[in-house]
Amino acid sequence: ALPAKVKIVEVGPRDGLQNEKTVVATETKINLIDMLSESGLPVIEATSFVSPKWVPQMADQVEVMRGICRRPGVSYPVLTPNLKGFQAAVEAGASEVAIFGAASELFSKKNINCSVDESLQRFDEVMKAAREAGVPVRGYVSCVLGCPYEGKVSPAKVAHVAKCLYSMGCYEISLGDTIGVGTPGSMAEMLEAVCKEVPVSALAVHCHDTYGQALANILVALQMGISVVDSSVAGLGGCPYAQGASGNVATEDVVYMLHGLGIQTGVDLSKLMDAGAFICRSLNRKTSSKVAQATCKL
Ligand code: HMG
Ligand code: MG
Repeated sequence: ALPAKVKIVEVGPRDGLQNEKTVVATETKINLIDMLSESGLPVIEATSFVSPKWVPQMADQVEVMRGICRRPGVSYPVLTPNLKGFQAAVEAGASEVAIFGAASELFSKKNINCSVDESLQRFDEVMKAAREAGVPVRGYVSCVLGCPYEGKVSPAKVAHVAKCLYSMGCYEISLGDTIGVGTPGSMAEMLEAVCKEVPVSALAVHCHDTYGQALANILVALQMGISVVDSSVAGLGGCPYAQGASGNVATEDVVYMLHGLGIQTGVDLSKLMDAGAFICRSLNRKTSSKVAQATCKL
């Protein structure tokens, strides 16, 4: 049976913008986050506390956190790869963070410059500090359905990393198809393995739409009991350390599908599309959302 309600985690301001080649003005990022807040989204990933040498686009993280208008009831998590990032995030007023690991060794190395085991040790330090500070932590696993450097990734490895993050204390584990190569078949197989290790209520799916499979993959996840879905307004995005990875599934398209299935999201689709139109105008690009294209908002 499908869930009655789905929590959408909007990752556009972070996953969406981190890959933009030209620097997006801080004010544009703040306006985008504020418009997304107005649309009723419950979670908006705002920025990353990562090295500006690695991801220059997120170098204004402190200004973004200061500038946004925090709507009551909405959470604004930020990515923190290590203790340094965690401390800076808390200093800047973050009340929720996310750590991000991978199910693939080579991707881990390229993305955060350490092995999977080393990353888990670093995350453990973040978890300890977060526990003391009372900050909830979300955990990502990247490359759950394939890696740009290693190719196939085994469901057992995904389940192992997901279990480690959950045992450490992450309240939710987001399973990332970083390069969008999964199909409903491989998604179901991977989820079956992960569900044996982590309660399904603590799982989220994070689909990129590179091969056009994202909505189908999400539907399979919903059918398997998952009720948290990551997406990016206008389908912005891609990871700078995953060549060829296109954007996340568009939030507009996810909301349209969920509402069509009679599943509640709390999101006002028309306000969401205004946010999508705003960021596409600002970036001077076409939306990747089919719903936005179809309704001629752009
Ligand atoms: P490193 O070079 O190994 O770090 O990078 P280090 O500890 O050796 O330090 C080197 C320098 O970085 C030092 O500065 C540190 O102070 C600084 P220097 O002395 O040279 O001036 N540094 C930092 N600065 C700011 N914030 C920090 C920080 N930590 C160290 N937190 C590191 C290791 C993890 C920092 C680096 O590899 C990094 O920043 N990586 C981030 C990459 C990233 O953001 N990728 C995109 C997000 S993941 C994603 O998109 C996937 C996801 O969407 C899910 C999916 O789709 O699958 C989540
Ligand atoms: Mg991503």
